[in-house]
Amino acid sequence: MAKRKTKKNPDADVHRVTTSGDIEVSTYLEIAQGMSGKPVATREVEPALEHESIIVMDFGSQYSLLIARRIRECNVYCELVAHDTPWEKIEALNPKGFILSGGPASVYQKNAPLAPAYVYESHLPVLGICYGMQAITKQLGGLVAPGEKKEYGYSILHLNSSDSPLFAGLEDTPAVWMSHGDRIEEMPPGFHALAYTENSPVAVMGNGNGIYGLQFHPEVAHTPQGTAILRNFAYKICGCKGNWTMGNFIQESIARIKNQVGKGKIINALSGGVDSAVVATLLHQAVGDQLTCIFVDNGLLRREEVERTLKVFDENLGMKIIHVNAADRFLYRLKSVTDPEVKRKVIGEEFIEVFEEEANKIGKVDFLAQGTLYPDVIESAASGSTASAKIKSHHNVGGLPARMRLSLIEPLRYLFKDEVRQVGLQLGMPEEMVWRQPFPGPGLAIRIIGDVAREKLEILRSADFIVMNEIKKANLYRHLWQTFAVLTDVKSTGVMGDYRTYGYLVALRAVTSDDVMTADWARLPYDLLARISNRIVNEVQGVNRVVYDITSKPPSTIEWE
Ligand code: XMP
Repeated sequence: MAKRKTKKNPDADVHRVTTSGDIEVSTYLEIAQGMSGKPVATREVEPALEHESIIVMDFGSQYSLLIARRIRECNVYCELVAHDTPWEKIEALNPKGFILSGGPASVYQKNAPLAPAYVYESHLPVLGICYGMQAITKQLGGLVAPGEKKEYGYSILHLNSSDSPLFAGLEDTPAVWMSHGDRIEEMPPGFHALAYTENSPVAVMGNGNGIYGLQFHPEVAHTPQGTAILRNFAYKICGCKGNWTMGNFIQESIARIKNQVGKGKIINALSGGVDSAVVATLLHQAVGDQLTCIFVDNGLLRREEVERTLKVFDENLGMKIIHVNAADRFLYRLKSVTDPEVKRKVIGEEFIEVFEEEANKIGKVDFLAQGTLYPDVIESAASGSTASAKIKSHHNVGGLPARMRLSLIEPLRYLFKDEVRQVGLQLGMPEEMVWRQPFPGPGLAIRIIGDVAREKLEILRSADFIVMNEIKKANLYRHLWQTFAVLTDVKSTGVMGDYRTYGYLVALRAVTSDDVMTADWARLPYDLLARISNRIVNEVQGVNRVVYDITSKPPSTIEWE
C-alpha cells in the first residue's frame, strides 16, 4: 500500500491518506479518524493458516516483501516476520525453511540484528540473502569484513559446481543483481563456496546440510533466474509440496469463515473496488445472506458505475445490498469547498455518517468485513506499531456507536494484490471488475479543480466516459495503471462553426506504474489521443480544449488534487 504524501495545508489539519489503490473504505475510515465519536472496540479475528510455509526473517531490506511474493509465486505459502519473532509464532505457521533477508546494517557493528538461535537449532533449511548470508557467517563462526570495492548492479555468477540442488536447471553463468559493501572473508567451518563473481569469491556458499548463503538478490527482476533459485530452495531443499493455490485458499477460507462467523451477521461496505468486491464475494459464498453489503453512492462516481456495481452484486451474484443514494448529502457538504484536502475530509466524514445510519437500521451486527491486504499488514507492522494495532485503527469507525461491538473479518489479510485478483477470477467475478483500474476514494471530486458542482460532474463524467471507452477499444486498459480526465478550472477561447466559444479545458492523464510510488506518463499513440480529444470537444458540451499531461511522478502526483 502506498503512503500518501503529506501536503502541508494551512486550512485543513488532514493529509492525503494511505490507499491500496482502490476506492477502498479503509481510506474513508482513516480520513474520518479525526471525527468525534467514540471509537468502537474491535476484537480482531486471526485466521489460522494451515499451510506448510517458508518464513522470511526481515532484517530491513527494501526487497524483503518481494522475497515473500516470489516464494508465493512458486505456490508455497510464505510470511515475512520481524527477525526477532518468538518461536511460538513461527511454529504455528508450520515452517519448512527460513530465508534471512537483506538489510542495511553491517554484521560487525555493535548490536547488529542476528537470527534467533531457533533458526539453526530447528535443523530446518536456511537461505541467507546478502545481509542474511553475512549473519549466517558471523553466527556460525566465519568472518565478514568491509569489501575493498562495493558491488552494486549486475554481475555474472560462475558456478563452482552445478551439483548443488540450489542450482538445478540453471544456466552456467547467470546474471545476478548485487548490492553490498561487506563481504565474506572466511566462511564458517563446514561451508564451501558454490559460486563466485568477479568481486565476490564467495557469492554463494553452502554447508551440505541445508544452510546456504547468496550474496546477490534473487528476488529482484534484475536477477532473471532468481525465482528459479528460490523455487529450488523451496522444493528441492525444504521439500515443500506447493499447496498454496488460490483454489485451495478459497476452499479453506470459506470453511474458516463459516467457522468464525457461525450464525453472526456481517456488514461490508462495497465500493466497486477490487478488494471490497472480492471480500464480499468470498463472504457471500461462505455465509450467504448473513452478509449485508452497504453501497453508498456519493454522487462522485463515474458514469454507469452505480448500475454496474448493482448489476454484478445484486443481479448476478444475488447478494443482499443496501444501495444508498446519498449524492445530495455529499454535494451539499461539498458546496463551495475548493481545497483538495478539505474535500477529502468532508467526503470521509459524510461517508461514515451514512454508513453508520444504514448499519444501525440492520439491527444487531457482529462483524465488519474489510479488504485489508498483506502489504497493508506488513506496512503497519513496519511503521512501529504492531500490525493489529495499526490495522485496528483503520477500523475504529469513528461514528459507529460503541454499543455495536464489531469483530473485524479480513479474509484477504494474507494475500498480495495479484493473489486477490486470482481469487476474484476463480470465484467467477467478471474480468472487468477484477482488473479494474484504481479509483480514488473521494472519486471525481478530486478530479474537478476547484468547487464541485453537479453540472461540472456531468461534464467530467461525459469526458471520462469517452476516455475509458477509447482506451478499452485500443486494448490498453489493463496495461495502464490509471487513465482519466480532469476538469480544470481554466477556461479558454475556441471557435466552433461561426461562433467563438469560451469553454473548459479538460486534461487527460494516463500513467504506467508498478507500485504507485512512481509513475510515468503513458506514451499513448497520437491517433488515439486525437480520437479522444476530437470526441470530447465534439460530444461534451462546455469543453473546447483538451491537453495531455506529460509529467511523471515524482515530481507530479497521479491525481491533480
Ligand atoms: P497520487 O495522486 O498521490 O495517487 O499519485 C496515488 C494513488 O492513490 C489514489 N488516490 C487516492 N485514493 N483516496 C484514495 O482512496 C484518496 O484520497 C486518494 N488520492 C489519490 C490515486 O488515484 C492513485 O491511484
